[in-house]
Amino acid sequence: MLKCTINGKELQVKPGTTIMEAMQASGQHIAYYCWHPGLSVAGVCRLCMVEIKGNPRVQIACNTQITEGMEVNNTSPMVKDAVKWGLDFHLINHPLDCPICDQAGECGLQDQYMEYGKYTPEMAEAKVKKHKVQDIGPRVVLDSERCILCSRCVRFTSEVSKTNELGIFNRGDRSEIAVAPGKKLDNNYSLNTVDICPVGALTSKDFRFKQRVWFLKDVDTVCNGCSNGCSVKIYFNKEGVFRVKPVFNEKVNGHWMCDEGRDVYKFINREWRLLDAQISKASGSTAEFLLPEVAAQKVAQDLSQSSNKAGVALVLTGQYTLEEYESVVASFKNNLGTNKIYHWVNNPESFDHFDGLLNRGDKNPNTKGLLRVLEKNGINASWDQLEKSLNAGEIETLVVAAPENQAVYPELQTKIALFSKAKKLVWLSSTKTKQLSNPTTHTVQIPMKSFFEKSGTFINHAGLEQKVHRGMDVVPKALSLTAFAEIIAGLNEKVNRIVNEGAETGVHMPKRVQNEYTSIRGEL
Ligand code: SF4
Ligand code: SF4
Ligand code: FES
Repeated sequence: MLKCTINGKELQVKPGTTIMEAMQASGQHIAYYCWHPGLSVAGVCRLCMVEIKGNPRVQIACNTQITEGMEVNNTSPMVKDAVKWGLDFHLINHPLDCPICDQAGECGLQDQYMEYGKYTPEMAEAKVKKHKVQDIGPRVVLDSERCILCSRCVRFTSEVSKTNELGIFNRGDRSEIAVAPGKKLDNNYSLNTVDICPVGALTSKDFRFKQRVWFLKDVDTVCNGCSNGCSVKIYFNKEGVFRVKPVFNEKVNGHWMCDEGRDVYKFINREWRLLDAQISKASGSTAEFLLPEVAAQKVAQDLSQSSNKAGVALVLTGQYTLEEYESVVASFKNNLGTNKIYHWVNNPESFDHFDGLLNRGDKNPNTKGLLRVLEKNGINASWDQLEKSLNAGEIETLVVAAPENQAVYPELQTKIALFSKAKKLVWLSSTKTKQLSNPTTHTVQIPMKSFFEKSGTFINHAGLEQKVHRGMDVVPKALSLTAFAEIIAGLNEKVNRIVNEGAETGVHMPKRVQNEYTSIRGEL
C-alpha cells in the first residue's frame, strides 16, 4: 500500500490508484466532466485539477497515479483559479439555454459554475453556432451546441455497447459529436449515453420536456423487465411515473441498464391500469364494476361454497414478489387443498438467451422466486396437464396471476382463449387486458398492485435476492397478491392490515432540493 495525503487527510491506497479514485473512495469533492468510473480515462475536460506538493503546475487527478508520500490538494487558490478558467473555456461556445434544457437541475455545468465559476465572461467574440435538435436515433436527440466534448458518449459506444455509432468530427472550435455517416445511435443501451452526458447535449426523446427534474422524487428498486434484475431508480410525482435510470450495482449491472428496461415504468401509469374490479357473466353481457376487495371476497365465497374443490386451479407468472408467491401458494394449498398450481412460462424458446451485457431472454424478474416457492411446497404440476383439464372442461374456477408487463407475453391472446375454457376465470392483473374486453366465459378481473407499489423480494437469474421498494400508490384500491391470498384464506383482519397499513417506502428526494421542495405539482 502507498501512503499519501489529500486535503490533509492521510490515506493508504493500492499501487496504480489515481488521485481521482482515491478522492472518490474517501468521499472528497472534486470537479470533473470526462472521467466516469465505468469508462477508460480520457483526460480531456481539464477540470479535475489538483496541486501536488513539489510540482509547480496543477495536474489532472483522473490520470495521475498516486506515488509514495504524495501530498495533494484541490482547495488552494491556484487550483480554484484553474478550475474557474477551465470552466470559462467550456462555456465559451455554450448556448446557455438552461431555461429550455432538460438537464437543468442536474447539469454539471450549472453545478460547477455555482461552485467554481461565478466570473464575468471575458470573451468578446461571437459564439460558434453548432447543430441543435438532431435526431440521431430512435431514442436520443443531440444538441451539439451544448456539448462540451467530454467524449463519454463516444467511449461508451466503443467500450461498453461496442456499437461505435458516435465520434468527434472536425477540429478546433468546429469539433462536434455526431453519428458516423449512414449510422443511427440505435442499440439496446443507447440511453446510457443520455445518463452519462454531463450536460444537456444528449436527451431522451421519451423524457424530453415532460417534467422539470426538481419536481420529481425517486425510489431505489429493481427493474422488472427481465431476470437480470438491474438496480434502478424510478422517478415519479403525483402526476405519474416518468423515467427509470440505472443505479450502480457491482454484482448485477455495474453502471448501466438496457433501453428495454427504461420502458417498464409505462405499465405503472394510470392509463395502462385496470382501475376497478369487473365481473362479466357471459359473452356480450354488461360488466358489473366493484371494489377489488369486494370482488375478491365474492371469489372467496364462491370457492368456499363450491362442492367441486378438485376443479380449482391457479396459474402464476414470474412477475410477482417472493412474499406474494409464499402467501398465495400457502392459501391455495392449505386453505383450498389444491396442488393444481401451474407456472406459465411466456417465451420458453428464448428463456436462456443472454445478449452478452445485461439483457436476458427470461422477461420475468422473479422466475427463480416462483420456482423456489413451488419446490418448497412440493408442487410440480405440469402445464400439459392443465391444458388437458381445461380442454376436457374439468376446471371450474381458474385463478390467473397475470403478467404486469404484457408486452413480453406475446401469446396472451391464445392463452386467454385456453383459460376461458374454465367455467369461471379470475384474472388478477395490474394492467388492462384488451383481449378480455369481451370475455367468452364468466370472468372476474381484479386490479393488482404494480411492482412499484409494493415492497418485497425478487430473485434474479443468478439466484441473487434483491429488495423491491414501494414508491407510491398509483391505483390505491388495487390488491397485492398477498392481500388476495389472505381474502381467499378468509383472514380478513390480516387483509385490512395489509390494505391499510402504510407499507415500507424507500422514497427520497434529490438532495439539492430537500429543503426547498414545496411545489404542489410534485407532492405525493
Ligand atoms: S454529447 Fe455529452 S457525453 Fe457526448 S461528448 Fe458531448 S458532453 Fe460529452
Ligand atoms: S437488463 Fe433486464 S433487468 Fe436490466 S434494465 Fe434491462 S430489462 Fe431491466
Ligand atoms: S475529469 Fe480529469 S480531465 Fe476530465
